Amino acid sequence: MSCTLLSSPLQGFTDFKFRNAFKHYFGGIDTFYAPYIRLDGKLLIKSSYQRDLQPENNNTLEVIPQVMTNDVDEFLFVVKYVEGLGYKELNWNLGCPYPMVTKRGMGSGLISDAEKINSILDRVHSETDIIVSMKMRMGYENSEEILEVLPMLDTYPLKNIAIHARIGKQLYKGGVDLNAFQRCLDQSSHKIYYNGDITSVSVFREMQERFPMIDHWMIGRGLIADPFLPQMIKNNSTVYPNNRLDIFSEFHDTIFTAYDLALSGPTPIRMKMLGFWEYFSQSFSNPQKVYKKIKKAKDVAAYKAAVKEILHMERQLNRG
Ligand SMILES: Cc1cc2nc3c(=O)[nH]c(=O)nc-3n(C[C@H](O)[C@H](O)[C@H](O)COP(=O)(O)O)c2cc1C
Repeated sequence: MSCTLLSSPLQGFTDFKFRNAFKHYFGGIDTFYAPYIRLDGKLLIKSSYQRDLQPENNNTLEVIPQVMTNDVDEFLFVVKYVEGLGYKELNWNLGCPYPMVTKRGMGSGLISDAEKINSILDRVHSETDIIVSMKMRMGYENSEEILEVLPMLDTYPLKNIAIHARIGKQLYKGGVDLNAFQRCLDQSSHKIYYNGDITSVSVFREMQERFPMIDHWMIGRGLIADPFLPQMIKNNSTVYPNNRLDIFSEFHDTIFTAYDLALSGPTPIRMKMLGFWEYFSQSFSNPQKVYKKIKKAKDVAAYKAAVKEILHMERQLNRG
């Protein structure tokens, strides 16, 4: 069965430094979505977004930029910007669940406004050549909201709709709603990608059995928690390489060095890495203990010692 794996964007995690290191050490991902660009009313692209999308920072990667907005002028501005960099596709974020975003009618807070979505898509398709794809939850308040929108979306030549099978109100709590996802499949003639809670090869296999018509799968948090996951899915194997911890260790050191160079001072780099360890720890034998060790490290030297100790402990456990 053919299967395309996409790295779901994670703001604060899957920037170009992460993407390049990920591809080098693990692989298995066909296409990376860049985290969203958000303008906040000013027609100006922040330098961190610019760096993230610069072709020279992504020269071996397949990357799709993403925008989060409910304003057509912002959308058109971002289209021009990404087209100027050579990108052919722009993904539209209708999934973000955070109240700061949804209360302003963006992210999953925009799903219930079919008229606005329609008017934005109409102008984008009549005024530009960009290929548009969507990334959506199934609603904010309930999973019926998307069903009101899908027939209208059928009238546009969207490349695909990636659906995170939750509603905004859930944030990241509760499970994915696979029955509601099935209703979306029944109601749309677009190509649908599945997204949500793919955390292991066995979960992936269950999903594949349940939705045999899906051949594009987006993985977000699961890919940070277990960076070997995409390659294992591709190989249809649950076996890790023998030198799993050596590879992880090199990957860790690569992103640590890259972020350390970019961030100023010892606290930001520790905070950055602590964010990663919230996920990394999940694929260690004792996630809580691992996370606690990192959290307790109050300077960079202590952090490095903690990482060394964690890897040593895990090697001992794997041998035992
Ligand atoms: C920290 C964090 C940042 C995220 N940033 C983005 C983003 O920039 N754009 C987006 O479309 N989704 C974003 N998401 C949602 C994920 O891409 C994904 O849809 C969601 O986590 C469900 O997939 P998963 O269970 O495989 O992680 C983010 C999620 C998290 C936890």
